[in-house]
Amino acid sequence: EKGGFEWFMLKEIDEQPSAVADTLRGRHSPGGLLQLDEMRISDTELREVDKIIVIACGTSFYAAMVAKYAIEHWTRTPCEVELASEFRYRDPILNKSTLVVTISQSGETMDTLMAIRYARQQRARVLSICNTNGSTIPRESDAVIYTHAGPEVAVASTKGFLAQVVACYLLALYIAQVKGMKYGDEIDGILAEIGRIPDGIQRMLDEGDQMRKLATELAGSRSILFLGRHVGYPVALEGALKLKELAYIHAEGFAAGELKHGPIAVIEQGLPVFVIVPPKGRDQLQEKTVSNIQEIRARGARTIVLAEDGDEDVVPYADHLIRLPKVPTLLQPLVSTVPLQIFAAEFASQLGHDVDQPRNLAKSVTVE
Ligand code: BG6
Repeated sequence: EKGGFEWFMLKEIDEQPSAVADTLRGRHSPGGLLQLDEMRISDTELREVDKIIVIACGTSFYAAMVAKYAIEHWTRTPCEVELASEFRYRDPILNKSTLVVTISQSGETMDTLMAIRYARQQRARVLSICNTNGSTIPRESDAVIYTHAGPEVAVASTKGFLAQVVACYLLALYIAQVKGMKYGDEIDGILAEIGRIPDGIQRMLDEGDQMRKLATELAGSRSILFLGRHVGYPVALEGALKLKELAYIHAEGFAAGELKHGPIAVIEQGLPVFVIVPPKGRDQLQEKTVSNIQEIRARGARTIVLAEDGDEDVVPYADHLIRLPKVPTLLQPLVSTVPLQIFAAEFASQLGHDVDQPRNLAKSVTVE
């Protein structure tokens, strides 16, 4: 059943072009942008939403972090992101104008379920993004968007994550449309960009050998860092989480801009640091990230730079350069995550670990 792959995880990484395409399919109809699978929230209620809180655990939480950028950018509605296990203990301010969005691949994560129950008690509306039909979380939610990634067997989520990110973009566009912040043409344009992403993912898969080689070269590393800005920040966190989960080494993700406020102190000779460079153009994000690469390299870091085609600024400072297809800034996680997944799986596999069933972890955690 592994389809010729050594691990389910590698098979699931390979299935990501279709996970993304299938999650997009059939959502765009002439009458309304998004077909929600189960919707018990009216457009009138959605127009009254004045705050969105996205809640999840683990890898799904990083999809939630990406969602915040898309939701605020496209809908102009304030959005918070919260770990499910923290949410209800901080006495959050919720009412019927609050939309709580939960993200869960399995639909059974207890922390997330408890957050939903709490939110509904406070009269908030709850919309869930979920990959498992008929699971508990969608059953207890007012609305559901199913991701169509197909069953995920490996404990570490890969195709589930990319499909969640796509569902978050769709949700943000739907709310933007209902609230009148975005109109047909603009939405069609963004959807067309997302529609091209599976080709970009396929290219990252086709170029996966460079990650396998890199895993061999970096074997023996006891610590690896990841830096990113904007939506590259959750990608950095996800890259680090995958390594922790699978390879059992110290790995940490940082917002690149935070480097100078502390993390730069840990940079030492030979420390591998992945840097996800945003596309050129917006808010000088690319330029600022390039200067971060210079700073760490000057202190001896071994830099593994993920940068889009044509970005020549990074070349002098990249010990290893991973090229990404040109995509809009907000969509970059859909392509930049892929090489990090391959790297973590290969790195762990070379260490002789069980990539599909890492020690101490479970696919769905049904205790708080
Ligand atoms: C974990 C899994 O414990 O639960 C992670 O090991 C996963 O891979 C997390 O991201 C959240 O799971 P779910 O099903 O709620 O998305």
